Amino acid sequence: MTDAVRFHAQHRAEAETSLFEEVMTGLSRQPKALSPKFFYDRRGSELFEQICQQPEYYPTRTEEQILTHSADEITRLAGPESLLLELGSGASRKIRLLLDALNPSGYLGVDISRDFLLDSTRRLAADYPWLEVHAVWADFSRRMEMPEGIGGRRTVAFFPGSSIGNFEPPEAETFLAGLRQMLPADSGLLIGVDLIKDKAVLEAAYNDAAGFTAEFNLNLLRRLQVELGAELELENFRHLAFYNDAAERIEMHLVSQCQQRIVVGDRAFDFAPGERLHTENSCKYSIEGFQALARRAGYTPKAVWTDPQNRFSVHYLSTP
Ligand code: AVI
Repeated sequence: MTDAVRFHAQHRAEAETSLFEEVMTGLSRQPKALSPKFFYDRRGSELFEQICQQPEYYPTRTEEQILTHSADEITRLAGPESLLLELGSGASRKIRLLLDALNPSGYLGVDISRDFLLDSTRRLAADYPWLEVHAVWADFSRRMEMPEGIGGRRTVAFFPGSSIGNFEPPEAETFLAGLRQMLPADSGLLIGVDLIKDKAVLEAAYNDAAGFTAEFNLNLLRRLQVELGAELELENFRHLAFYNDAAERIEMHLVSQCQQRIVVGDRAFDFAPGERLHTENSCKYSIEGFQALARRAGYTPKAVWTDPQNRFSVHYLSTP
């Protein structure tokens, strides 16, 4: 690459084969399920950006408000000149808020969507010419390592948007424990966590009137058509999102509208009318519940901020 961004490919070969493999296993399972990480091809990432701007989808703007109000305190906790590691790449206003406040010595954006990662890190490098910008193409739900020559610096990891909610709680704990292993001593994790709240508010956020969430959900099947040559009728599936009280999570599914099959390579997967393909969980937490999980993963909760309506929380955790 000839631009200002240093590019590191970490899971390249795996990322290319894993969609096919995971589709084969996911569609053979009962009930059928696919990982939400496959939402994020370029189109999926763009649709997600649209979702974030919808009036019903409160997490993005609420987290931004919290970060704006707590920037001074975050800076005090995080200290100057650290390395800022963002899980999910820097397209959002949130990372700019942090870069302005923290003045880090370097920025490392990690994302599974290569094109999106390159676009967003290039934009950051152009807007922050003094900043050392690295783009790490990796699936951060797998074990990740700091690219060579970067490790050892005091790091503040930033995991915004309540993406931690897309893991089941035990997986979230394992993921956070793995991330902690990667962070040098005296580092920190700034993490956004969506809170348990009124069901109507939650369900509206995942059923926006403009239909971007439905498009985002269906885009997963479009990827199977485009990338795996799958035979399927997109219009025969419908978006479904609801709050599961017992599991404290939003669930997203694609519901088959008729008896039909999806053919991938030499395999056919039959769907009965009404049968669901489970595409995402978005787990919600209480503040205490999340802090307990973070402690089990080896962190010390140092601070937590919320909005006046207690919709969303941002936690600063230190590696002890
Ligand atoms: C990325 N993640 C935190 C979003 C969420 O709210 O779980 C993804 C999303 N799915 C539907 N709308 C947004």
